[in-house]
Amino acid sequence: MTSSGLPPMPPLSAPPLPALSSSGFRLSKEHLVVAVPVAVVAAVGGFLVGHYLTGRSCKKGQVNTCVSKDSPKVVHSFDMEDIGTKAVYCRCWKSKKFPYCDGAHTKHNEETGDNVGPLIIKKKDA
Ligand code: FES
Repeated sequence: MTSSGLPPMPPLSAPPLPALSSSGFRLSKEHLVVAVPVAVVAAVGGFLVGHYLTGRSCKKGQVNTCVSKDSPKVVHSFDMEDIGTKAVYCRCWKSKKFPYCDGAHTKHNEETGDNVGPLIIKKKDA
């Protein structure tokens, strides 16, 4: 007994350190119990931050992903007399020659299961 009436405290021992080997250090079970949840939280946090940042640059539901994105509205106008006998216009917004179809809808349809195709305007006899 001590003078305060309490039983003496047992001596404190230092927590075990991971064993160091020549190629690095080994993780003990106690380290994994801490490391695994920290890794899971970091992975989920990274995913959420990436998802948030991606969502800011590409708004959900937009069909136009690359054509004149600096313009508030994409509009093209053609005179009927200038079209000639046939014109093929893109409706998938993936064409590199927009507003004309370049066949990019085929790849889009294969990748997404969509069924979009061009608008074809032609003279009756063409
Ligand atoms: S490339 Fe868009 S409809 Fe053909």
